[in-house]
Formats: sequence, structure tokens, C-alpha cells
Amino acid sequence: MSAKKRPGGLRSVQWFGRQDIYGFIYRSWVKNRGIPQDQFDGRPVIGICNTYSELTPCNSHFRTIAEHVKNGVLDAGGFPLEFPVMSLGETLLRPTAMLYRNLASMDVEESIRGNPLDGVVLLAGCDKTTPATLMGAASVDLPTILVSGGPMLSGKYHGKDIGSGTNTWSMSEDLRAGKLTLHEFHEAESCMHRSHGHCMTMGTASTMASMSEALGVAMPGNAAFPAVDARRNVIARMAGRRIVDLVREKVPLSKILTRQAFENAIRALAAIGGSTNAVIHLIAIARRIGVDLKLADFDRLGRGVHTLVNLMPSGKYLMEDFCYAGGLPAVLRELGENRLLHKGALTVNGNTIWENNREAPCYNRDVIFPFAKPFKKNTGIAVLRGNLCPGGAIIKPSAATPKLMRHKGRAVVFENIEDFHTRIDDPNLDIDEKCVMVLKNCGPKGYPGMAEVGNMPLAPKILKRGITDMVRISDARMSGTAYGTVILHIVPEAAAGGALALVENGDVIELDVAKRKLHLHVSEKELKRRRARWKAPKAQLGRGYWHLYHEHVLQADAGADLDFLVGRSGALVPRDNH
Ligand code: FES
Repeated sequence: MSAKKRPGGLRSVQWFGRQDIYGFIYRSWVKNRGIPQDQFDGRPVIGICNTYSELTPCNSHFRTIAEHVKNGVLDAGGFPLEFPVMSLGETLLRPTAMLYRNLASMDVEESIRGNPLDGVVLLAGCDKTTPATLMGAASVDLPTILVSGGPMLSGKYHGKDIGSGTNTWSMSEDLRAGKLTLHEFHEAESCMHRSHGHCMTMGTASTMASMSEALGVAMPGNAAFPAVDARRNVIARMAGRRIVDLVREKVPLSKILTRQAFENAIRALAAIGGSTNAVIHLIAIARRIGVDLKLADFDRLGRGVHTLVNLMPSGKYLMEDFCYAGGLPAVLRELGENRLLHKGALTVNGNTIWENNREAPCYNRDVIFPFAKPFKKNTGIAVLRGNLCPGGAIIKPSAATPKLMRHKGRAVVFENIEDFHTRIDDPNLDIDEKCVMVLKNCGPKGYPGMAEVGNMPLAPKILKRGITDMVRISDARMSGTAYGTVILHIVPEAAAGGALALVENGDVIELDVAKRKLHLHVSEKELKRRRARWKAPKAQLGRGYWHLYHEHVLQADAGADLDFLVGRSGALVPRDNH
């Protein structure tokens, strides 16, 4: 048989169905762990793409989840083969896990394409592992299901709930303001993350797990079941069964990840008060699969959508509470009942999104509010434009201070993150609460990797006066667990020569979120004069992946993907390996 794709046949047959030297090579080494000959009878071969790593604490239980997926694949008559890919631990990786999202996506893409797989189950949890695996899988376009690892149990400290990230920021500010002792701070570390799973606030991991469910690429209920809840393992097992059917039914990922699916996800993002990081990730995933999603789509589709979910960082509860209240299905039902869902979008369990969610119950209206009486009104991601961000910038209104949404103030400029750290605690820093904090050179090229430093901590002298929020502007991202009146993802970034690079101390900056405006009150003539003096900062490393990234990374409005990774290459590999 030719190594080329057989019409109507399974892809794996090109490897395992051969009765020649190649068939011997492809089968024999796989048999070394006790695989009988009958496993090579043409049944669907399912890859289990595992982002397990002890360096990614949020994914450290994934060996168990993989076993449940395997059992499901075997239940349905498939042949499971688990493989590792690069894992990205948000809390340990320097300079930021986001720098490596595209690298991990390349690993996923090539591992799937180069191997004898007919379908794939992606195991993802920590922030970047979800977009990285989906981006890679999208570029191959086999039948695909994503299983999230699930959130941790709620943090418990001194009788109160504490949430990943959100209370990390607030407690570290309390420490700096002298309201918390170092002993209490250390104690809180042990109390916050006390089970397997990813961050249990509505941070980026929970947001991306919710996005996967709203996109239809994950099983219903995927987002909210805690990592240690037995039902998480049931989801894994059902995904294992279902992926075998998806292969038999010939449903590639592109049948799931349609424009309608992305539009559903954008509205769900607004309804859950989800992470700003989802904007970049959804655009990147969409552009891999061939959907031309734009920044403007988030503003257009998010308008009129209310935040329904009362979870940190926008509200007070945690993912465990969200699960017990009904989880994302209850939110999707609210959207559907208010004409904010493409009801016919297909999902991986074979039903439409509406068939899955139209009868979803809600058990706690203080956690999931009804659309008619929302938790917060009109809070979709707002996309700002102006001379400071001609390519766009974003703000998450649900996590911002309402009175700062229209604000004019004097810029206090930090040239880079080191400059910020050096000066922010200086009692002589010329800053008050009306100022606008500006941080440069933290975008994709500048940091590199667009770190989550946009929610700059406030100066101690301001914190001590009880002020908790100021307008902050940067080309960086912010953690999905963070909050504040924070303008992010300025395009073009400072290191690419954007106007952000030209802002000086004392310039006046005007923000008007209702008008979607961000304006630097400096004349064109003066900006031209400053531009003539500007020099691009030198790339930090001139070799290896950092070099490749610096040369090819796109700006935030294009998903910060590498330019040569956009789009699909499909699954065909026309040559044998010997
Ligand atoms: Fe992994 Fe937050 S650190 S999800």
C-alpha cells in the first residue's frame, strides 16, 4: 500500500496495516510492552496528548486522568497511545510561560501529525497548556477532544475562602502595606493551593477550560468539576469513548471550531467575567483553524452581554462553588435563552450546544445570576483605540473600578520592568492616585513573551492611604486572576516602535471606556520629534527559540502566534521513515 492517504481509510492504517518491512517496523516496536496483534486490525488509534509535568503543578495529576481516558478508548474499541508534550507551568517558567506557548503548540502539532493517530485527546490545565494544545491540534485537524484537569478545591485560610492569584495579589499588597505578618503570609501559601488542579479563581486556566466547553471541543461539564472530584475522571473516560466515535463519524476539529463556535465562546467569556488572556488565545486558535477572528469581534459580540458569574477576580466565589451552582451549562442556558448563542453549533459529544445545555439547572443564584438580573451589566471585553494604540488595546470592565473608566491623568512612566521594580517603592516617586501608570517594553518582543505584569502593584505610599486601584497602561498581559483598571495588550507594542514607546513622564493620557478611547495628549509634531530619537531595544537572546520568537512573533491583536504557524497544514505525511 502506498504511504499516501487511503480514501475512506483510517490514517493509522498507513502505518499499522502494512504487510511489508514497514509494517514490521511500525508494529514490532509498539508490541514491546505487550500489545497483541489484534490491536492492529484497523481500529481507531487515539493519541492521548499529555501535558503532565512536575514542573507544571496544575497538571501533576494527569497520569491518572490519562488512565481514565485510556479506559474509555478501550471501552469503545479503540487503541490508545499516550504521548508527552512540552508542558508550561505558569508559576515556575521564566521569563513567562507565554513565551513558550507557540513552541509547545509546535510540539503538539508535529507529534500528532508525525505519528499513526486517527484522533487525539488533549489533556490540559495550567493556563497556556490549553491554547498550546488546541493551536497545535487545529493545525493538523484530526478529530479532537480536550479534557481539562479541573480546578483545585477552594483555598481556605483562617475560616475564609482565598483564591489563587486574586488573593496572592491582595495579600502581597497587605504585606507591603504592613497589614499582614510574614508568618501569616507563609501560612496562606499552604492554605491556598491544597489539592491537585489548576487555579480555582476564574483566572486564565478556568477561563480556557470554560472556553473549551463553550467552543464545543470539550465534554459538557468540563470547566468546573474540581480536579479531585470523581466526576472529572468520568469526563475523561467519556471523552475516551467519544473520541473513538468521532473518528468513526469522521468529524475533524474544523467541524467543531467554526466561526459560530468562536462567537459562542466570546459571549461566554463576557458572561463568566473571564480572563483577558482568552482574547489572545482564542484569536490564535481561530487563525490556526482558518477562522479570521478579530479584536473587534470581542467588542462587537461582548456588547450587551452581562457578567453572570460571581467569581473571583470579578466577584467573590470560586470554581468549586461554580461547579455546585451548575457550572458553565447554567451560563450557556442563560445565553441561549437570551438569543446570545448559536444554538446549532456542533459539540464533540455529537449534540449541538443547545441540546447539551438547554435544560441545565442552576442551584445557586448568588453564584450564577440570571441574565435578567445580572451580577454586573454590560461587561464584555472593551477594545480601545486611539493614537496610543492604533492596533487596539483591551480592558476588562468587570474587574475595573467604575469611576476610573473615564479618567484623565498625568503619566508616570516606567521604561521596562526593571525600572518599575527599582522605583515603585521609592517614597520620593512623584505619583498620586490621579496619575496614569505606564509600563513599556513588556509586549511579545519586548519582555520577551508578553508577561503578566500589566497589573502593576501600586506604590506603598498610595496603598497606605487606602487607595486600591489606579489606571495602568502597558503592552503586557495580566493574570486572569488579577483585577483593576488595567489597560493591556497595546498594539503596536513599545519594542516594535508603537507610540507607547514615546510616552514621557508628565504627558496627559485620557481614557474613556464608554467611547472606547485611549488618547495621548501630545501633538503629532512632538511625537514625530520623539520618534526620530527612538531606538529599538536589543533582543535579549540572539539564538535558539528566543531568536526565532523575536523574529516571527505577531502582535497581540493577531494572537501573538508566530507568523509561519498561522493556518493548517493538515495531517498528511507522504513519506515513510526508512
Ligand atoms: Fe497553573 Fe494558575 S498557575 S493555572
